[in-house]
Amino acid sequence: MSRVPFVCGNWKLNKTIAEAVALANGVAAGAAQAPGVEVGVAPVSTALYPVAQALKSTSVLLGGQNCYHETSGAYTGEISPTFFKDVGCKFVIVGHSERRQLFGETDEGVNVKTRAVLDARLLPIVCVGETLAEREADRTMDVVGGQTRAALAGLTAAEIGSLVVAYEPVWAIGTGRTATTEQAQQVHADIRELLRDLAGDEADKVRIQYGGSVKPANAAALLGQPDIDGALVGGAALKTEDFVAIIKAAV
Ligand code: 13P
Repeated sequence: MSRVPFVCGNWKLNKTIAEAVALANGVAAGAAQAPGVEVGVAPVSTALYPVAQALKSTSVLLGGQNCYHETSGAYTGEISPTFFKDVGCKFVIVGHSERRQLFGETDEGVNVKTRAVLDARLLPIVCVGETLAEREADRTMDVVGGQTRAALAGLTAAEIGSLVVAYEPVWAIGTGRTATTEQAQQVHADIRELLRDLAGDEADKVRIQYGGSVKPANAAALLGQPDIDGALVGGAALKTEDFVAIIKAAV
């Protein structure tokens, strides 16, 4: 089954509005030269509207970095999938390891957020990944499998088939230390096996992105693996040339 590669920039807490618009324009120009690759960017929420305007007649998808599971109401400081959709988003990242580690997000919380994103007819990017201690204790698939099962609990096979999973080993995020192509492919293949268990043939439709120190220099090797269907890029997504080089590596 051929899956359309999906390369996404997670800008985290970076870029003012002016910087975000400039970067979005550069990404759009690069994406136009990479046929057959889906490209997305997830700016800081305050930059979403201007970036949405900048991307209006381009193919680049806009996304949120996190969301709240309730639709609307007295939830000071929160943003729901409905409001991300209102500003022009097509996807929302849920369960990023920084959310789990710094903001106490649980597997159950990731599950209700995933449900909420689907209910708003947006695309969830569900992040999973083990810490260095867990990998060294040979617990990678226990952890990654447990996170994946929990995040997708209660979803139909078709819903699972429609979403994106991002495998981001925590020890590779922002550290310059990337999983080897073999390490990454192995976990991606194991995740797909697990998805097959949950959703049968729908598992073949799921794009599984790799994230963790993806750079122009390692992107082609990673993206060339059979079960690596894209990348979720942090640091290298903040520089137009680097991100565009990664997009082109996915062609
Ligand atoms: P880096 O690419 O900076 O390692 O970040 C990866 C990431 O967390 C993307 O969500």
